[in-house]
Amino acid sequence: MSPSSPLTRRVLLAAPAVLACAAAPRGVASSRAVTPLSGLHRRATRGNRFFGTAIDPGLLAHDPAYMARVPQECGIVVSESAFKWGALRPRPDAYSFDGADALAEYAARHGLPLRGHTLLWHKDNPAWLDEALTPAGGERLLTEHIRAVAGHFRGRVVHWDVANEAVWPPDGRPGGLRDSPWHRALGPAALDLAFHACAEADPAPLRFLNEDQIEYAWDAHARKRGAVLDLLADLLARGVPVQALGMQAHLEAGVTDLDQTALARFCADVASLGLRIAVTELDVRDNRLPADPAIRDAEVAAHARAYLDAVLPCPAVLGVLTWGLSDRRTWLNDEIPRADGLPQRALPLDAALRRKPLWHALAAAFESAPPRPA
Ligand code: G3I
Repeated sequence: MSPSSPLTRRVLLAAPAVLACAAAPRGVASSRAVTPLSGLHRRATRGNRFFGTAIDPGLLAHDPAYMARVPQECGIVVSESAFKWGALRPRPDAYSFDGADALAEYAARHGLPLRGHTLLWHKDNPAWLDEALTPAGGERLLTEHIRAVAGHFRGRVVHWDVANEAVWPPDGRPGGLRDSPWHRALGPAALDLAFHACAEADPAPLRFLNEDQIEYAWDAHARKRGAVLDLLADLLARGVPVQALGMQAHLEAGVTDLDQTALARFCADVASLGLRIAVTELDVRDNRLPADPAIRDAEVAAHARAYLDAVLPCPAVLGVLTWGLSDRRTWLNDEIPRADGLPQRALPLDAALRRKPLWHALAAAFESAPPRPA
């Protein structure tokens, strides 16, 4: 994969689903039919970008309609949880790849490039890790895990979120790093170890630092953007092989503090380090909005559009993944439920897999953004 291309051209344009559709007999693909040629990824590729989504293991296993819809809209997928320590490591001496392999096999079957998420995080770790993660044993534990996991998926993954949410200035650690079990055991060197181990196990995937809470004009977000930039510059200066920044973009409709200028400047600053960028977990929660679906859908769409119009023009921004494709399933209903108990309307498709205003906002943002250089 060349540095400027979001994915290899082969996987972008030759996905069987796309070719199959192009060959569909006349009259099959009516104007209302959903075909990969009209999907969000296809629209993103016209500007040399990608669109994809995160897949929950439960949907992959039990919702064929949802999984049939993914290739019609997406050109890359990632697992919400199957590639994390919590899913992969039932015991210190064991790996359980079944869930992750199931998504990898689905992705390969549909010609969909796969993101790996994530090799180093302070959450979703197995219970045994706390005891095993000592200054003496931590380095071997981390590097062996990454060698095993990145090695297992060698040749099957195009991106790795090597480190997830490593920056949290309120913890007061030097460099604004998060007070995580990894940091307590290994210090800042945990990041260096992770990126080097990933590069050694599989040099091909683009290696990301994936970060949240860097979206708004709030002091905390501005402080974190600064800390992320400083960390990336420091890693690069020390020869740590980080190549890209993931901006999670878990947004909230009704928040008025979206500073498009600050966002565009942040993307330019990251790009000036020679790094690529992806929007990795876009969704727009609607907790602040009234129950009326039409109001929620319109404000969610407008909010996402404002964010994407700020970041997509940066040539370093390779593409966008949403954290789920349909309101049928979003982590938000589990973790940040609406006070009225109504399901969130945070994603491009509704629970019946129909396109919503957010879908059209994404399509319009891809179509209006200046094409990325080839
Ligand atoms: O698979 C098990 C199942 O066997 C078990 O019966 C069930 C009940 O315990 O748990 C299932 O695993 C859950 C997994 O999702 C799959 O559904 C885990 O408990 C649960 O913690 C996990 O939640 C995920 C969370 O990350 C933690 O890994 C969410 O789905 C996922 O959306 C969320 O994603 C994070 C990103 O990784 C980082 N950015 C924030 C984002 C939202 O929190």
